[in-house]
Amino acid sequence: MSTWVVVGANRGIGLELARLAKQRGERVIAACRSATPELAGFEVVEGVEVTSDSGVARLAAAVDSVDVLVVMAGVLKRVGLDNLAFDEIRRQLEVNALGPLRVVHALLPKLHAGSKIGLVTSRMGSVADNTSGSHYAYRMSKAALNMAGKSLSIDLRDRGVAVCLLHPGFVRTAMTGQHGDVDPDVAAARLIDRLDALTLETSGSFLHANGTELPW
Ligand SMILES: NC(=O)c1ccc[n+]([C@@H]2O[C@H](COP(=O)([O-])OP(=O)(O)OC[C@H]3O[C@@H](n4cnc5c(N)ncnc54)[C@H](OP(=O)(O)O)[C@@H]3O)[C@@H](O)[C@H]2O)c1
Repeated sequence: MSTWVVVGANRGIGLELARLAKQRGERVIAACRSATPELAGFEVVEGVEVTSDSGVARLAAAVDSVDVLVVMAGVLKRVGLDNLAFDEIRRQLEVNALGPLRVVHALLPKLHAGSKIGLVTSRMGSVADNTSGSHYAYRMSKAALNMAGKSLSIDLRDRGVAVCLLHPGFVRTAMTGQHGDVDPDVAAARLIDRLDALTLETSGSFLHANGTELPW
């Protein structure tokens, strides 16, 4: 049994990933801002606001050793040239880019050789894949997350910790207004496959949940 920490486990893809990992016998620590009824039966750490040092410190204090860390927490609100709200861009940078880096940094003492980190990003953070423009806040924040993940993969290699950036697919959740190609349980199962397959050799990769490598 491995210890999995899922940040943003109270709903959406994170909830399904936590469920599936628990179902197959992993110890799952479900971290979230506020628990939902669906988390009954889980070990829950509440108050994990990824933009807050104290929120993330609460999580670090609650866990001893982490085998797999999945940072799922994220927000999406469209910001285009027609509604260019810099405060909203700043908020999404705080949550989507600085949040995961803050979580990883706080949990560093709990990671060991063989630990794995999955940072859930989006292909919308790919510069090469951007053919439709707009979405300044989300695209910029996920591109920044991708860069943080790449640096983490390099900096943590000597400790034996592997890191990957994972795009879950276009998934029917609240974030997409329930639009998408796949349900959250399917996306979550695919993300678990990618985490199972992650090694130091493949550390630093940017992958679609279906296993395809994505361009930066
Ligand atoms: N759905 C898609 O098609 C899609 C595509 C590409 C990438 N993604 C990425 O996949 C991840 C999960 O998305 P989803 O579709 O499952 O979205 P979702 O249903 O909206 O869930 C978002 C999760 O992030 C948490 N969260 C948001 N802000 C947070 C904060 N400041 N601190 C801590 N937790 C916070 C939410 O918790 P609260 O309940 O407290 O708000 C919730 O658990 C995100 O990183 C998203 O960018 C999704």
